[in-house]
Amino acid sequence: MSLGALRVGLAGLGTVGGGTWTVLNRNSDEIQRRAGRPINITAVADLDQAKAKALTSGKARVLNDAMALARDPEIDVVIELIGGYGFAKDFVLEAIRNAKHVVTANKALLAAHGNEIFAAARQRGVMVAFEAAVAGGIPIIKALREGLTANRIEWIAGIINGTTNFILSEMRDKGLPFEAVLKEAQRLGYAEADPTFDVEGVDAAHKATIISAIAFGVPMQFDRAHIEGISSLQAKDIAYAEQLGYRIKLLGITKRHADGIELRVHPTLISSKKLIANVEGAMNAVWVKGDAVGDTMYYGKGAGAEPTASAVIADLVDVARMLTADPANRVPYLAFQPDQMAALAVVPIAQVRSCYYLRLRVKDQPGVLADITRVLADGQISIDTFFQREPDEGMAETDVVLITHQCVEQDMQAAIARIEKLPTVLAKAVMLRMEAFV
Ligand code: HSE
Repeated sequence: MSLGALRVGLAGLGTVGGGTWTVLNRNSDEIQRRAGRPINITAVADLDQAKAKALTSGKARVLNDAMALARDPEIDVVIELIGGYGFAKDFVLEAIRNAKHVVTANKALLAAHGNEIFAAARQRGVMVAFEAAVAGGIPIIKALREGLTANRIEWIAGIINGTTNFILSEMRDKGLPFEAVLKEAQRLGYAEADPTFDVEGVDAAHKATIISAIAFGVPMQFDRAHIEGISSLQAKDIAYAEQLGYRIKLLGITKRHADGIELRVHPTLISSKKLIANVEGAMNAVWVKGDAVGDTMYYGKGAGAEPTASAVIADLVDVARMLTADPANRVPYLAFQPDQMAALAVVPIAQVRSCYYLRLRVKDQPGVLADITRVLADGQISIDTFFQREPDEGMAETDVVLITHQCVEQDMQAAIARIEKLPTVLAKAVMLRMEAFV
């Protein structure tokens, strides 16, 4: 049986849009054999008309108003590659109102407004597919939503921002400070001119929010995520961690917790023996623990034209395959049936249990360690390991580095506040969380 072509409108012809056009054209025969019908981008919209015309060379209509795509009766599916949560949100909602299926790579939009978008899509009976929104070409949404559907997910930890993983790898390899590596990354085109969303952990938190919702069947709760980036991380701490057998990675973590779920992004010490600690450069990796399957890990490129296009086109094929299915029988947007979502809230970071790395700048004199360890003992915080650096030449001060056993964050924060008041402690403590992932 031969089915009519799926008519696609593509909004936004940047890096990913260009890659989507290229891959869909290059592999159109195989994609058609898989989808059961041709998938044709019949119209594109971009403000840069000349670029759009050059790319599509007469094979698609070129519009300068994306909203016209959202309303076009000749379009079945729109791909939103506009980015941001302003116009992109209006565009997606307008497409849904006009009964179009939507494929998007926009993690910021879904993390912030996904609940509203999915409600609108459900009401209109259309699909919203977003494989490209998390970890680029890695099919992590598919894995979580379908492949691991038998499991009770226990936790997920991901390197889900390539820019920061590249910066951390370079800082460790070359012993360079954050600012110097960021400048180099910008020069090489790995980091954006405004790198705030990447380096401050916001991009990773958008992605962690999405995988958390799918893993636990909870609404998007981006506004409750705990977010710390890497801009204040010092090369010294990366080196000390390494001496202790750990690497520091910016992880997006989501876990079950007795009172809800954890959702956090922060630099994290991980044993250098763990696979995820060895994911270097701009690569992404997502580690998922399910009760039945155990540990699974997904590794690949988290950005770039064709890796991200790979995910966008996979979504188009899913839409083509499910087009005629009763909406109630399609894979639910967030893996769980909409009326079966759990009301689990994200717990505040103060209630999270973790091990901690502390670096303290102290006077090098008798009794300093005793004072510090007394404060920790009073807080019922047990020390796992510590070392003291040789004092720098001619200086009567040094670094004390210690790692604690697990404790609740608010107890650690209280202990740090007391430690910082000791007259022999000379600067604000550096505190990093450490995860064993067992
Ligand atoms: N800016 C992201 C990163 C890629 O550095 O991984 C797009 O999500």
